[in-house]
Amino acid sequence: RTVYVNGDYVPEDQAQVSVFDRGFLMADGVYEVVSVLGGKLIDFDGHMVRLKRSLAELSITNPLTDEAFLTAHRELLTRNAITDGLVYLQVTRGNPGDRDFVYPPADTPPTLIMFTQAKPGLADAPAAKTGWSVVSVEDLRWGRRDIKTVQLLYPSMAKMEARARGADDAWMVEDGHVTEGTSNNAYIVKNGTIITRQLSHDILHGITRAAVLRFAREAQMKVEERPFTITEAQEADEAFITSASSFVMPVVRIDDAPIGGGKVGPVATRLREIYLEESL
Ligand code: PDD
Repeated sequence: RTVYVNGDYVPEDQAQVSVFDRGFLMADGVYEVVSVLGGKLIDFDGHMVRLKRSLAELSITNPLTDEAFLTAHRELLTRNAITDGLVYLQVTRGNPGDRDFVYPPADTPPTLIMFTQAKPGLADAPAAKTGWSVVSVEDLRWGRRDIKTVQLLYPSMAKMEARARGADDAWMVEDGHVTEGTSNNAYIVKNGTIITRQLSHDILHGITRAAVLRFAREAQMKVEERPFTITEAQEADEAFITSASSFVMPVVRIDDAPIGGGKVGPVATRLREIYLEESL
């Protein structure tokens, strides 16, 4: 693969970042994941808006204009011959030259790396027909989940727990209510109403979430933005998640309780179709 490091396109085995990089030592960085379908970048503008917000919240310098980000995305797709897959980008506070809790001077250049992952047939994931199973775990993350930081150890631990319990993913629970999945937003459907947690510092403001809720409202579906419990989810007609890499993915089991008889339901199926149609 050819990857991008601070303005250069280099073979992945020649890419270098300092051992003192704040991203490496302190998880002091933010990231974005943009899907690619048929060579097209999905929801690119939305991801750029969120990237700039994450950077501003942490006072990390934005290394590129939106236009330059777009050029770099396209260049990586071309150089790696990607038609279906994703582009990962990460911006960290850079290399202060030593380890220190104090931020380095504001003129320290941020570190920007980008790479692609090929995922042939991404839009036709077989799991979309059968659905995921999820388990509930306590949400032990920090209090600014709206910033898309690279501090992903707890979500990774939760994913491992899900795998150990034979499930596909974990839904994280705080004060009795679901926040989100390890790397996706969580939804239930009851009597035709789509229910998902409202935006706050408690969850990531999903770009796919924004698009899917817009399409749902345009299709005259009812949407309620509020927290829900695992029990309410287990009694729902349907459940699903959204993310840039999974689009809309049905959930058919939560902690051993089948949802909607354990079968993928019509609302999740329809929203997935609409999302993919509108994005392509
Ligand atoms: N994850 N919530 C969390 C905690 C996430 O990490 C993500 C994205 C989402 C969905 O956001 P979006 O629709 O903008 O992708 C919600 C990415 C895909 C990842 O970490 O790979």
